[in-house]
Amino acid sequence: MSEHVRLAVEDGVLRITFARPDKKNAITQPMYGTLAEALTRAETDPSVRVVLFEAEGDAFSAGNDLSDFAAVAAGTLDRHNMKTPLFLNALARAHKPIVAAVTGLAVGVGVTMLLHCDLVFVADDAKLSVPFVNLALVPEAASSALLQARIGYARAYAMFALGEPIDGRTAASFGIANASLPVGEVRAKALAAAKQLATRPTGALQATKQLMRDGTAIAALIAKESQIFGDRLKSPETAEALQAFAERRAPDFSKFSG
Ligand code: COA
Repeated sequence: MSEHVRLAVEDGVLRITFARPDKKNAITQPMYGTLAEALTRAETDPSVRVVLFEAEGDAFSAGNDLSDFAAVAAGTLDRHNMKTPLFLNALARAHKPIVAAVTGLAVGVGVTMLLHCDLVFVADDAKLSVPFVNLALVPEAASSALLQARIGYARAYAMFALGEPIDGRTAASFGIANASLPVGEVRAKALAAAKQLATRPTGALQATKQLMRDGTAIAALIAKESQIFGDRLKSPETAEALQAFAERRAPDFSKFSG
């Protein structure tokens, strides 16, 4: 189990806390493994009625740990051994309700995972972005369909292709979140909502979620995206983007032909 993920059950709510604040809660392969196991176990654990994602520090999550992407690009990590798909599949196929409390930065999978949550609360000043294209990558976690279904093609394309962040108020007005609140109130509000859900008839909640989401179709799209994402990780464009991040400079994609 990763030391950077904390798990605790309280009043029927499994609290999953990202606890790697010094790295903006970037998610490593061991963290993905722990997250996948926790979600999978929650499905059959009678003490868990609702799952809540939250984070320590000033970022919800800076997304996938870029050193893992760099390792795949360099050939030192086999993409087929990555644990990311286990987490994404567990999210896609979850039957129990999932709530999220988002404060600070949410980047990449820190945003796309919210599209699998059932109630989302964000800080007014949160900053949400999906800059896959900045890394010469493509959307994942079925976000290529789920984001545009949620907010419309024009907004979704701009978020993906330009990679610019939206704030929490905008995320709520677009329908990515249920509400935006002052940052100090977000976690308490999300926990209260999760506990409220935990008092509802769990069979009816799970059946409702199954009616509203086609987990099998979502998982199929995740697999399709993963194939393209994995190919892109090996591309010269992504190598340049990851090198630029490591060197703290802007990437230069002008040398790659159109
Ligand atoms: N993977 C690995 N490490 C990351 C990370 C990531 N996705 N995001 C942040 N970190 C690390 C930084 O390298 C830094 O580590 P260091 O202190 O050892 O140098 C630390 O977290 C703090 O990040 P820093 O960049 O100094 O903070 P910031 O407030 O200036 O910027 C971000 C925060 C999130 C905007 C910036 O770090 C960033 O762009 N990260 C990459 C996000 C990304 O592209 N994610 C993948 C999307 S698909």
